[in-house]
Amino acid sequence: MEYTIKTIGVLTSGGDAPGMNAAIRAVTRAAIVNDIRVKGIYRGYKGLMEGEVTELGTQDVSGIIQRGGTILKTARSDEFRTPEGRKRAFETIQREQIDALIVIGGDGTFTGARLLAQEYNVPVIGLPGTIDNDLWGTDATIGYDTALNTIVECVDKLRDTGTSHERLFLVEVMGRDAGFLTLNAAIAAGAEAAIIPERATVAEQLEEAIGQGRRKHKNSGIVLVQEHAIEGGARKVAEIIEKVHPEYGTRVTILGHLQRGGSPSAYDRILASRLGVAAIQALMEEQRSIMVGVQNSEIVYVPLSKAIKQKKDIKDDKWQALQVLSI
Ligand code: F6P
Repeated sequence: MEYTIKTIGVLTSGGDAPGMNAAIRAVTRAAIVNDIRVKGIYRGYKGLMEGEVTELGTQDVSGIIQRGGTILKTARSDEFRTPEGRKRAFETIQREQIDALIVIGGDGTFTGARLLAQEYNVPVIGLPGTIDNDLWGTDATIGYDTALNTIVECVDKLRDTGTSHERLFLVEVMGRDAGFLTLNAAIAAGAEAAIIPERATVAEQLEEAIGQGRRKHKNSGIVLVQEHAIEGGARKVAEIIEKVHPEYGTRVTILGHLQRGGSPSAYDRILASRLGVAAIQALMEEQRSIMVGVQNSEIVYVPLSKAIKQKKDIKDDKWQALQVLSI
């Protein structure tokens, strides 16, 4: 028997990312064009458990493509990790007559979606939405480009004051377990070094960073430190450097949640729009438990299991480029 999707639910979960609104807009409008009703679920899985659901029409997603954050709000839910929590979520799905779920988020969001699919046979499609860009199977995640540009803009500003005062700035960058933001921002901002979890030991990277900071004619420098590359983050790195080189005027800047905010870049808006439309297409093609991503500019379907479990590599040439260019 043919299984027709009449109503979908859409939610954003985990850390917000610029471009999530563009994705909600695209999912909603592409669904409506295909005669599918859309129910927006507030506060991710928490809202799904609690039945915080509202119907979305084309007007409800008007004027949001340029807005950061997520109009549906987001949350991280411990209760949803339990079988009881997922049962409550499924009860909402049944009550609201939701035939399929589109979830926008990172690996935690996808893990939850997979469990719902396995336990209750709910058709789910994931859209990669995280500033960390740490999902395997897609070249980019929604929000990553905007966050990267925000970081570069901040580092450029720190460079102005750093060179004026001849100081070494240690700048802490988000990324959870991944160094994509840190490494790429370091290249783009012309930083002296990056300390990321994926490369060498932190001790080796530190040695390199200390050397680069005052090498040759340089008497100021910028080192980007991935938040979890070392316990204590950029503050710890500054402490270590100060012990070896008390003469360096080190300063620490933690960019923090600034990195998650702001109007999405054109790249993120386009990515989110394409992925949102493709998610509806995928559902109509009876795709299930996949992430819709982009590889070499083409839309791809990747099993959620792979997107979550496989580790996306840092490109060696990028790491090399940073080492070569920071002489
Ligand atoms: O996953 C996105 C992210 O911003 C990570 O880079 C960071 O480690 C984490 O979320 C911070 O989470 P929270 O906003 O809950 O402090």
